[in-house]
Amino acid sequence: MNDLKTFRHCLGHFATGVTIVTCVDGDGKPCGITANSFSSVSLEPPLLLWNIAKSSNSLRAYLGATHFAINVLTREQKDVSKHFAQSNHKIFDGVEYSLSAAGAPILPATLACFECRTTNHHDCGDHYIIIGEVENFKLNGGRPLLFYAGTYAELED
Ligand SMILES: Cc1cc2nc3c(=O)[nH]c(=O)nc-3n(C[C@H](O)[C@H](O)[C@H](O)COP(=O)(O)O)c2cc1C
Repeated sequence: MNDLKTFRHCLGHFATGVTIVTCVDGDGKPCGITANSFSSVSLEPPLLLWNIAKSSNSLRAYLGATHFAINVLTREQKDVSKHFAQSNHKIFDGVEYSLSAAGAPILPATLACFECRTTNHHDCGDHYIIIGEVENFKLNGGRPLLFYAGTYAELED
């Protein structure tokens, strides 16, 4: 096995979209984290997953949340991605959002959104895998924001 830096560099060559995963913590405070580990799992039942680092300040909030939302970003939302990649307990201050019926923060003008009920967590190395059942979803349309080799990218027209 090569060193960790090389491993991470190699993994980064898998191009992905970019999402903001949101929930509310036990005090009702909204939490949001930029994540590109999102993946679909199952159509019937409709399941998806994402991974959260054990080092995240929001770990307890996500492991305790009954619901979360996956907000898929458009190419116009690079600043949103950068904002939610910061470590800041007041991350939603000044950010516009609404709440899903189950109480997860929904960001405006995204490409798509999946509202999920948390079904399982799996403790895996330095991350947890969080799996959710999709209760509602919406495709708003637009062009995706991409992440590749450590930088943001866009699809060619
Ligand atoms: C494009 C991109 C994708 C990321 N994907 C993930 C991810 O899937 N899981 C994760 O735990 N952190 C991911 N991060 C890092 C988190 O966004 C960042 O560490 C976090 O927001 C820091 O705040 P916290 O410690 O308060 O959670 C990603 C960052 C970027 C820029």
